[in-house]
Amino acid sequence: MDTSTYKSEVTAAFNSAAASYDRLGVEFFTPMGRRLVEHAAPREGERVLDVGCGRGACVFPAAERVGPKGLVVGIDVAEAMIEEAAKEAALRRADTVELRVMDGEHPDFAPGSFDVVLGSYSVIFLPDAPAALARYAPLLSPGGRLAFTSPVFSDDTFPFLPPVFTELIPRELLLDLPSAWRPEALQQRFNSWLADPADLARTLERAGFQDVSVVDEPVRLVAESGLAWVDWSHTQGMRLLWNHLADDKRQQLRERLITSLDALRDGESPLVIETPVRYVTTAVGA
Ligand SMILES: C[S@@+](CC[C@H](N)C(=O)[O-])C[C@H]1O[C@@H](n2cnc3c(N)ncnc32)[C@H](O)[C@@H]1O
Repeated sequence: MDTSTYKSEVTAAFNSAAASYDRLGVEFFTPMGRRLVEHAAPREGERVLDVGCGRGACVFPAAERVGPKGLVVGIDVAEAMIEEAAKEAALRRADTVELRVMDGEHPDFAPGSFDVVLGSYSVIFLPDAPAALARYAPLLSPGGRLAFTSPVFSDDTFPFLPPVFTELIPRELLLDLPSAWRPEALQQRFNSWLADPADLARTLERAGFQDVSVVDEPVRLVAESGLAWVDWSHTQGMRLLWNHLADDKRQQLRERLITSLDALRDGESPLVIETPVRYVTTAVGA
């Protein structure tokens, strides 16, 4: 699949997911964004850029930290995400927050515009992320930091999903997917430089960064039930998988996931999945 088709599919998926994105009672992106901001630790008065900001999982915690003298700019390729984030900014009267529709592969800012660049679960969607990240290094002030999250990939993991899903998603349901959306193709697209911390550090160093730190920590994903998880999965990147399944396979996968996720619950208690997340922090030279 060529890059522009891929990008427009990703944009369309997040545009149509935006109204319910991360708002169906499942906790995942919001706690992850808050934690990424803790790792990046923007200081009072700093200028922060959030790439692929979605509805603002990092934007608003960052705005709290930088305070009234700071600035947080959120960019996203999906217009509907930016509209939702802007509604939230208005509700919060967050007047140090600016939101813009922009392709994160081609950031359009003057050199030295930011002290911190963030990207939570968004860098993975950039078709050539290492090349894109190299464009962020000059946008940072001397000593400025880049911090982003990604899934923790392993060979047998379905991309984006915690290892438990390797067992729960039967491969035969995925055989009819267009080749570009099969798990093997997605693995290759997303994890080639992110899977191995040494590879990741080398890639970031080539992109102009130094002092790379990679910390894997679980985010406790909590959903009321298997059904709640499946409904929520349509509001995030997995929507791309659902979109590409034939109707009968989509229905089979839906039923299978609801049943097997409910089997992981302790009676009526919520479904809890400890989901490994990779937090990467790095800096440009002072
Ligand atoms: C999984 S969401 C994460 C959103 C947000 N950072 C959060 O943690 O909730 C991925 C986001 O990346 C955005 N995205 C994907 N490709 C992008 C691109 N080329 N440029 C900018 N944003 C992009 C999507 O529109 C989506 O909002």
